Amino acid sequence: MARYCIETYGCQMNVADSELLSGILEARGWEPARGVEGADLVIFNTCSVRERAAQRVIGRVQSVAARKRRNPGLRLVVAGCLPQHLGEDLAARLPEVDLFIGPDAYRTLPDLLEPQMGEARLALERDRTETYEGIEPIRQEGIHAWISIMRGCDRFCTYCAVPFGRGRERSVPADRVLETATRAAAEGYVVVTLLGQAVTAYQDETCDFACLLGRLASTPGLRQIRFLAPHPGDFSPRLLEVMAAHPIVSRHLHLPVQSGSNRILEVMRRGYTREAYLELIREARHRLPGVGITTDILVGFPGETEAEYQETVDLMEQVRFDSAFLFAYSPRARTYAARFLADDVPDEEKKRRLAAVIELQEAHSRERFGRIVGEVRRVLVEGPAKESPRLGFGRCEDFKPVVIDPGEGGEALRPGSEVKVRIMSATSHTLRGRRQP
Ligand code: 5AD
Ligand code: SF4
Repeated sequence: MARYCIETYGCQMNVADSELLSGILEARGWEPARGVEGADLVIFNTCSVRERAAQRVIGRVQSVAARKRRNPGLRLVVAGCLPQHLGEDLAARLPEVDLFIGPDAYRTLPDLLEPQMGEARLALERDRTETYEGIEPIRQEGIHAWISIMRGCDRFCTYCAVPFGRGRERSVPADRVLETATRAAAEGYVVVTLLGQAVTAYQDETCDFACLLGRLASTPGLRQIRFLAPHPGDFSPRLLEVMAAHPIVSRHLHLPVQSGSNRILEVMRRGYTREAYLELIREARHRLPGVGITTDILVGFPGETEAEYQETVDLMEQVRFDSAFLFAYSPRARTYAARFLADDVPDEEKKRRLAAVIELQEAHSRERFGRIVGEVRRVLVEGPAKESPRLGFGRCEDFKPVVIDPGEGGEALRPGSEVKVRIMSATSHTLRGRRQP
C-alpha cells in the first residue's frame, strides 16, 4: 500500500488545503504515513508570503531530497503558493522534486502520480472557478473544523504575494457552506473556522459574508463560529450587527492593520485610512463588549520614515491589541512593491523597528491578558493541555487560550463542552484558571 505524508507551511488556508489533499489521495487508495520516514510520497504544502518562510521550506525540501539517494522510489511534491508564484525558477532550484502543483490543480494530483503519466513536472494551471466542491477533506480529530468559504484574493496589496499564489477570488455557494458546517457539526466538530484570504469579500449570488454568518448561526449542533481573516477595508457595519445578534459567533476579530501611517497605507493600497481603522475598532468594541482584537503589522515597508513608523507605534498604543503578528518587510517577486519601489529601509533599521514593536506588543499583551485575572470566564474546552493530560485546554469567547485545572476530584473536561473558569494567572500568551461549579 502506498503511503503519503504532508508537511504544511504558512496560513490556515494551507492547513485546510492539506486536509483536502488528504481527502483527494485517500479517495484513490493512498494511506497516511506517520512521518517522512515511512512515506513513499512526501508533499510540502508551501507558503510564499515572506522570504524567510520560503527559504526555510526550500531548505527542508533539499534535506528530505537527500533521502532519495538511499530510497530512489521516494517521490517528492511541492504544492501550494510557492510553486504557483515562482514556477520554473523554483523547479530549477529543486531538481530532485518530482512534481510542482499549484492550489487550483489538486484534483489532478492522483493522476499525475500514476507512473504512466510521464515526466510532467509542473501542474500550475489556474482555474478561476475551482472551489473543490464535492471533495471530502480528511479532518484532524477533535472538535474543530476548518471550512474554506472562498479562495484567492483580488486586492493586490502592493507588498503581497498571495494573489500570485492563490489567484483570483471565488466564493463557495452559501448552501454548500451550510451543508459542510451541518455535516461537520453532526460529526462532532462543534467549532468551525470559516477561512478565506479576505472573508469580508465573500459573495455568492444571494449572500455576502454578513448574510452567510447569519445563516450559519442556526446550524444544529454547532457551538462556535470563528472566521479568518476579515479585511478592514470592506468590513461592513452590518457584519458587526450580525455578530452582535449571534452569540455563537466568536468575540474575536483578527484585523490586519499593517501600518499606522496614511501615506504608507495608501502606497500599500490597503483601501482604508488610519482614522477609518481606529473608528472600526471603536465601533467593534462598542457593539461587541469584550471583543478580542488582534492584528498583523509590517514594518520597514519601502520609504517608511522614522515618523511614519512612529505612527504605527502610536496606533498600537491607541488600540492596545490583545496580540499581534509582527513582520519586517521583504520584497516578493512580481509584486508592485518589489518591481517599482526601492527596498530602502536598511536591514539593521528594519530589525530595530521590528524588535521595538515586538517589545511593545509584549507589554500590551501582558496588560490585556493580566486584566482578566480574578474574573470568571466561559471557556470552550478543546482537549487536554499539552503540559499534562489532567489539565484541559480551551479558549475564551475572545479566543484567548486558557489552561484549565478541573479541580480536586473534578470530572474530566469534555472536549466541546463549555465550562466556567476563574482565571488565576496570566502571561502575555496564555491564561490559567480553575473550573468553577
Ligand atoms: N514582507 C513582510 N511581511 C509580509 N506580509 C505579507 N507580505 C509581506 C512581505 N512582503 C505579512 C502581512 C500579512 C501577513 C500574513 O504577512 O503582515 O498580513
Ligand atoms: Fe497562505 Fe498566503 Fe502563505 Fe499562501 S502565501 S500559504 S495564502 S499565507
